[in-house]
Amino acid sequence: MKKFCVSLLLLSIFLSSCVQKNGTAINNNNGNTIKIGLFADLTGQTSAFGQSSKNGAQLAVDEINATGGVVGKKLEIVIEDDQGRPEQAKTVVSKLINQDKVQVILGEAASTNSLAAAPVAQEAKIPMVTHASTNEQVTQVGNYIFRICFIDSFQGSVMAKFAANNLKAKTAAIIGDVNSTYSKGLTEVFEKEFTNLGGKIVSKQSYTQNDPDFKGQLTTVRALNPDVIYIPGYYGQVGIIAKQARELGMTMPLLGGDGWDAPEIWKLGGEGLKNTFISNHYAADNPAPEVQNFVKSYKEKYGVQPDSMAVLAYDAVKLLADAVKRAGGANSEKLRDAIAQTKDFAAVTGKISINEKRDAVKLAVVLELDPSKSAYLYKETIYPNQ
Ligand code: PHE
Repeated sequence: MKKFCVSLLLLSIFLSSCVQKNGTAINNNNGNTIKIGLFADLTGQTSAFGQSSKNGAQLAVDEINATGGVVGKKLEIVIEDDQGRPEQAKTVVSKLINQDKVQVILGEAASTNSLAAAPVAQEAKIPMVTHASTNEQVTQVGNYIFRICFIDSFQGSVMAKFAANNLKAKTAAIIGDVNSTYSKGLTEVFEKEFTNLGGKIVSKQSYTQNDPDFKGQLTTVRALNPDVIYIPGYYGQVGIIAKQARELGMTMPLLGGDGWDAPEIWKLGGEGLKNTFISNHYAADNPAPEVQNFVKSYKEKYGVQPDSMAVLAYDAVKLLADAVKRAGGANSEKLRDAIAQTKDFAAVTGKISINEKRDAVKLAVVLELDPSKSAYLYKETIYPNQ
């Protein structure tokens, strides 16, 4: 028996290495469904992102399946929880590919986790589409890795311009998450752009997601009294930072990015979120019918207003379904090519075209937070190269 098992094991190793060597992807699943593997943080520090990703993706799958699916097949989502940890992200993506035999990977939200897992998808030649990771490096991992959101050099410069032109800021401080590729990238972009516009960065402070308190960093910044503070982090920390800044008597505008968009921020930041502004992927109060129809269906299904993570996951599944249709199925190479050829896809977050770097070229919006209504209010739309 033991011998039999060992030889079976050897045989399977041999077979799988053959498949990988001749370059065809492992998963040309001929079943009745097309399997999308979603990896997301469902239980960790950024679990709001995971929950919204799951809800948005599921809504799109339900809508597509209700009208017969794609190329005669239903879509199916297989979800894995990575707990918001890069190592775990790598492990679960490997499981989704090798065990669950998914034909495409969707995720992650946080760039650090997408970056950790992307080499696994690239190696297996399974297309991976991140709906929300904005750090430049993610799609540089290889030709099977795509994104449908804008990149950080864009959203960082949108906020540097907003600070210099709209708020007339001359000085800024930056407080960033030292373990987040996203936060580090945005820090660099903001510093460069704000300086180019004639502004001065008077202080750069850092924190980690495990810090309980940010008053040390804030006290240092307070002494320099900058016109604005840029805080490129996630809702779990930025909410508390905003609250503590106000407790220390700091009333200047606080600026952030898409990482501030999650309903949890209102509890954490409270009134401290007055006079704060962020760059984001969509405005829920945009009256355009495609936005309002989506907001309505999402609210009907889940009872809450969709955040940008939810709408991006929804858009990613719709875009994928369109690519599967154009590819005539989910053969990995054909699907990869079809995703790469996406042009002017009408998504809720705006038109999506995939460029030669496998990134989406898209608009961004600036929103103002209103804690009295727990709402993000639309301020302006910025198009790339504007
Ligand atoms: N852009 C963030 C990142 O790359 C993730 C994010 C997207 C968070 C959209 C909130 C909303 O890490």
